[in-house]
Amino acid sequence: MRVLSGIQPSGSLHLGNYFGMMEKMIDHQEHSELFCFIANYHAQTSLSDGKTLAKGTLEAAANFLALGLDPEKSVFWVQSDVPEVQELAWLLSNFTPMGLLERCHSYKDKVTRGIAANHGLFAYPVLMAADILLYQSDKVPVGKDQKQHVEVTRDIAIKFNNEYGDIFTLPEPEIDEEVATVPGLDGQKMSKSYGNTIDLFLEEKVLRKQVMRIVTDPTPVEAPKNPDTCNIFTLFRLFLDKEEEQVLRARYLAGGLAYGTVKEELFATIRDFFAPFTARRNALLAEPDNIRQILAQGAEKARYHANKTLRKVRKKTGLVY
Ligand code: ADP
Ligand code: TRP
Repeated sequence: MRVLSGIQPSGSLHLGNYFGMMEKMIDHQEHSELFCFIANYHAQTSLSDGKTLAKGTLEAAANFLALGLDPEKSVFWVQSDVPEVQELAWLLSNFTPMGLLERCHSYKDKVTRGIAANHGLFAYPVLMAADILLYQSDKVPVGKDQKQHVEVTRDIAIKFNNEYGDIFTLPEPEIDEEVATVPGLDGQKMSKSYGNTIDLFLEEKVLRKQVMRIVTDPTPVEAPKNPDTCNIFTLFRLFLDKEEEQVLRARYLAGGLAYGTVKEELFATIRDFFAPFTARRNALLAEPDNIRQILAQGAEKARYHANKTLRKVRKKTGLVY
């Protein structure tokens, strides 16, 4: 089974991104054919500063590699290094009804939030369809917000296949309902846009400050506390096995536990958990040419698969004369 997903290189990562997506994605390399790319063309719909995008792309690659993505076990590349995807996007455009794009929530939400309604933003789902179909993907792990885009991809693929025969594999979105939403410092969903994140790869001091900002209730130290309504506990659980969780739960229920103490323990746990990843990320970023080389090799592999599809499509659509 071929699993494909793309990630925009949009700055820092938080615990929600790690436990909600990256950890699972990287796990796919063990039992599926994993195709993972950095969606830098897509990022251009919301970022015009070239230097920031270039830096973000290298950092996104370092993040994935540091967290365990293995370029030997997967195909890992930067979207724009296989520009064939743009040709396919054009060819798919001719099978994309305007109404299909006009109904996309993500487009409507972005315009409501004040992002300029330009053609790139409008055509975003067609490029995403090209990403998915070019590599004949079976499964596309995405967050709930991207589910509609995978459905649009299927609609376009069906129209195209109806015209030209079975060219494209029809992809399925994979949405893991089991992954509980990781809460932020204030108990709402952890999200960059809410400013309530605990980020990965922070300096110790900054990480400590973020953890200390977790919102707690005013129960006095001596009183028993409810772990199930406590933001510190919910975050701590991500790092504990069942037994350790029971021990912490018992300490909550017994009373006499200060939230400050649990925060200190959580801080140390997060720091130690990510320390090897942070060290690896720093080492990778110190040698950006090595990252570029890994990405170039990935692009070469991706390109091979891309051209297999594109050759068929060019022929069917009359571009080969
Ligand atoms: P943000 O909300 O911070 O902008 P993104 O939308 O960039 O995050 O998230 C990328 C992916 O990370 C999402 O598709 C989702 O799978 C995962 N993710 C983000 N926040 C969380 C969270 N709080 N809990 C679980 N998964 C999350
Ligand atoms: N639009 C996706 C996001 O913002 C990123 C993306 C681009 C993607 N192309 C894709 C995801 C193809 C899955 C498949 O998260």
